[in-house]
Amino acid sequence: MRSIGARLSLWYAAAATTTLAILFIAGYYLLETYLIHGLDLLNQSEFNQIKARLGPDYRLLSPAVIDQRIRETTEYASVLFYIDIHGRDTGTIFYSTNLHGKSIPDVKGERKYDLDWGSIGLLRVGEFLLSPYDVMIATSETQVQDVMEGYAEVGAGLLAIMLVMSVVIGLGLSRLALRPVRLIRETASRIGSDNLSERIAVPQVHDEISELALLLNAMFDRLEDSFKHVRRFAADASHELKTPLSLVRLHAEKLLASGALDCENEEELLTILEEVTRLNATIDELLFLSRIEARSITLELAPHDPTALLATFSIDAQVLTEARGLRFSASHAGQGKAIYEPRWLRRVLLNLLSNAVNASPPGGQIRLRSTLDGSRWRVSLEDEGTGVPLAERERIFDRFMRLKSSAAASQEGSGLGLAICRGIIGLHDGRIFAEAGSDGRGLRVVFEIPAEPAAAHAPLSLNAPATTASA
Ligand SMILES: Nc1ncnc2c1ncn2[C@@H]1O[C@H](COP(=O)(O)OP(=O)(O)OP(=O)(O)O)[C@@H](O)[C@H]1O
Ligand SMILES: [Mg+2]
Repeated sequence: MRSIGARLSLWYAAAATTTLAILFIAGYYLLETYLIHGLDLLNQSEFNQIKARLGPDYRLLSPAVIDQRIRETTEYASVLFYIDIHGRDTGTIFYSTNLHGKSIPDVKGERKYDLDWGSIGLLRVGEFLLSPYDVMIATSETQVQDVMEGYAEVGAGLLAIMLVMSVVIGLGLSRLALRPVRLIRETASRIGSDNLSERIAVPQVHDEISELALLLNAMFDRLEDSFKHVRRFAADASHELKTPLSLVRLHAEKLLASGALDCENEEELLTILEEVTRLNATIDELLFLSRIEARSITLELAPHDPTALLATFSIDAQVLTEARGLRFSASHAGQGKAIYEPRWLRRVLLNLLSNAVNASPPGGQIRLRSTLDGSRWRVSLEDEGTGVPLAERERIFDRFMRLKSSAAASQEGSGLGLAICRGIIGLHDGRIFAEAGSDGRGLRVVFEIPAEPAAAHAPLSLNAPATTASA
C-alpha cells in the first residue's frame, strides 16, 4: 500500500476493533459468570426455604410428611426449580413433579455444576447437605444462554460498525494529520531552477512537520544562493571576456589592414579572426542565457496571427535549405492568435532550422507543421537525419550538450542553441521537447505556447513560396 494515510487508518481500525473485541470477550465471560452466580444464589435460597419448611426436627419426620411439606413449598416454583432429595439409606424421598421420577445426575466432588440434561436442556445444579439427605436443586440455564447469545449478536454487530467507523475516522484523521505533508510536497514540487524563491509555509505549531519545513526551506535557501552564484559567475565571466576579445579582434583586423603579412600568415590570422568571432558569439549566447535564467529579460507578449511570422520564416528557410541542397515545406492549420513576441520566436525557429539542416542527409526533407487551436499554438520542425536516441532527447536541451554520434554535432556549434530555445519558450509559458520523427526516422522538435481561443479551424496554406515542398 503506497499511501501512509491508508496504512495509518487501517492500523487505527485494526487497533480500535481488536481492543473492542477483547473488551467484548472479557465482558462476555464476566456477564456469564455473574448470571450463573445469580442462579447459584437462587438455588441456595430455594434450599434455605426447604430447610426452613422442614424445621429442625426433620430427621424424625416420615418420608411421606417430608414429601408433603416440601411439595407445599415447592409446587408453585416447579417451573423454576428441579428438586431431588435422597439419602444414602433411604433412597430418593422427594422428586419435584417436573423431574417425572428421574434423579438429577450427581457429579462427584462438585457442589455447583452445569449439567446438559437431554430434553430438559442445560441446568445449573446446586448440591446441598441436609444430613442424612442430599438436596439437589437445579435451575434452567436457558435464560442465561439467551442473554449470552443476544450479547454475542449485539457484540458482533457493534464490532462490524466499529470496523467501518474506525476506517472512516482513521482516513479522516490521517488526511487531517498529513495535510501539512501534502502542502510541503506540493510546494516543494513547484520549486525549480526557475522558481527558487518560493518557500514552504511553516505551520504555526512547533512539531516535527514544522521542523521539516524549516529544514527544507533552509536547503532551498542554500540552493538558491548557489544558483545565484553560478548564474552571476556565468554572466560576469562572459562579460569580462568580451573586452579582451574585442581587443584581440581589433589588433588582428589592424594587422590584416596593414598589409604587412605574407599570404600564409594572413590566412592564419583570418582563422584566428574566425575563431574569435565564434567565441564572441558563444559568449553572447551565454550572456543571453544567463539573462533568460535570471528572468531579467522582459518580453512584450501580445496576441499575433502566426501566419505572418511563419510566412517570412518560410522564405528564409527556403533559401537556407536550398543552399544546402535540402527541401523545405511548411503547413499551418487553424485560426486565431498566439501570444508571443515575434523576434524571439523567430530566433527559436532559426535555431531549430539550423539544427535540422545540420542533421539532414543530402536531399533530405525538413517539414514545419503548425497548428493553432483554442488554447495553444503547436509548431514542430522535423528532419530526416539520424535523430537522437530516446535517452538523450531531454539532455540535448542542456547547455553545451552536443552529441558525439549525431551528424548535427559534427558541424561547428556551441551546444547552446536548444538551451536558448527552451529558455525563450519558457518565457512564453510554453514547453519545448524532442521526439522521434515520422516512421521513427530523424528528429521532431516541438514547441507549444498559449494561444487565444478562436472558433475556426480551417486548414490554411501559407502565402509564401516555401509553403509547398520544393526540390
Ligand atoms: N535535428 C537534430 N537531429 C539530430 N541531432 C540534433 C538535432 N538537433 C539537435 N541535435 C543534437 O543536439 C545537440 C545540441 O543542439 P544545440 O542546438 O543546443 O547545439 P548545437 O547545434 O550543437 O550548437 P549551437 O546551436 O549552439 O550552434 C546538437 O549538438 C546535436 O548533437
Ligand atoms: Mg543548434
